Amino acid sequence: MIKILNIVGARPQIIKASAISRTIKERYSGKFEEIIVHTGQHYDKELSSVFFDELHIPKPHHNLKVGSARHSKQTASMMTGLEDIILNIQPDCVIVYGDTNSTLAGALAASKLHCPVVHIEAGLRSFNKNMPEEINRIMCDHVSTLLFSPTNAGFKNLIKEGFRPENSPPYTIDNPKIFHSGDIMYDNSLFYGELAEKKEKFLTEIGVKPGEFVLATIHRDNNTDIPERLRSIFEAFLMIAREQNIPIVLPLHPRTSAALEKNLSKELCKEIKNEPLLKVMPPVSFLEVILLEKNARLIMTDSGGIQKEAHFFRKLCIIFRKETEWVELVKNKTSVLVDADKEKIIKAVTDFSMNKKLNFPKFYGDGKTAGFICEEMVKNFG
Ligand code: UD1
Repeated sequence: MIKILNIVGARPQIIKASAISRTIKERYSGKFEEIIVHTGQHYDKELSSVFFDELHIPKPHHNLKVGSARHSKQTASMMTGLEDIILNIQPDCVIVYGDTNSTLAGALAASKLHCPVVHIEAGLRSFNKNMPEEINRIMCDHVSTLLFSPTNAGFKNLIKEGFRPENSPPYTIDNPKIFHSGDIMYDNSLFYGELAEKKEKFLTEIGVKPGEFVLATIHRDNNTDIPERLRSIFEAFLMIAREQNIPIVLPLHPRTSAALEKNLSKELCKEIKNEPLLKVMPPVSFLEVILLEKNARLIMTDSGGIQKEAHFFRKLCIIFRKETEWVELVKNKTSVLVDADKEKIIKAVTDFSMNKKLNFPKFYGDGKTAGFICEEMVKNFG
């Protein structure tokens, strides 16, 4: 049996890990022993336990309960806890996902104990090191042994940073292997997309009709914690909702809800609260967000995952950032970068409403990426 330690901590990682857990359960149960560690980076029920329950992921064997803290303190407490667990369990490899502080902590703790790191979602770059995620990704990639890039752009980024696609086995931290594997989130969207239909009554519950609402999310600190940016985004929401008479569904990250009170004027907060077309609500579950994505007319977000899910469900997407790691979406003109600029946000909505020719190529693999990753882990660690 190959002992793998699956490290999760933030909402998107729990969702990503479900693709690997599901594949192991369906096809590799005799080959892998999976041990799940939750760092506790996300601890609110809506950002954590709801996903384990809904996606039927085995409950974490360990929870470090690190909670919120400044970046170094948070990452350091994760590393301390993970070091003990890795020493105790002696896994054959550690799997980390994406670009959060939990990813970085897992990759550093494992590599320093000479335990191979498997990085799922390798190679993505925003080329903006003001984002903590960019630092996390670069550090993690450079201590990994197997690197699975979801996109061709990510694979090329790794080559530019000195990774050699021609490396041959056995793979190690000094002789790593890079793969253009496709995206496990595409696997998930196919699997959960159907299940989400069963939640259909959620749309009625929140008072929207299929195709007649916008879905919007915001959680990045440079949008929530800089008052002018947050104000500009919410003023745009109010204008779009009122001028186009369309509801905007806003499931908010706890940080964003807190920031509204803290960073916006009392008047604007009141306007947001009293505007029936702005449907502000707590974070929703994965099946609920998929249902919203499938049925939205348009999506607006600063989330990395939701940009791609918009593409999976053939929706146009307005991105509240200056740059994105999913460059193929912007090149394809089905996503547009508007930063936090009110005028650009409003213009993008108008431009998109005139855009009739939509093409959503298969940028993210064939929906069988988790199987490919498991197969490569068997080859390397079996
Ligand atoms: C993290 C990831 C980001 C990912 C996002 C998904 C890093 C650096 N960033 O950012 O890449 O897109 O998760 O959600 O790891 N909070 C709560 N309840 C919770 C968790 C957080 O209220 O359950 C609040 C706390 O005030 C905290 C803030 O949210 O300070 C930010 O939490 P943090 O751990 O930094 O993660 P995210 O911002 O969610």
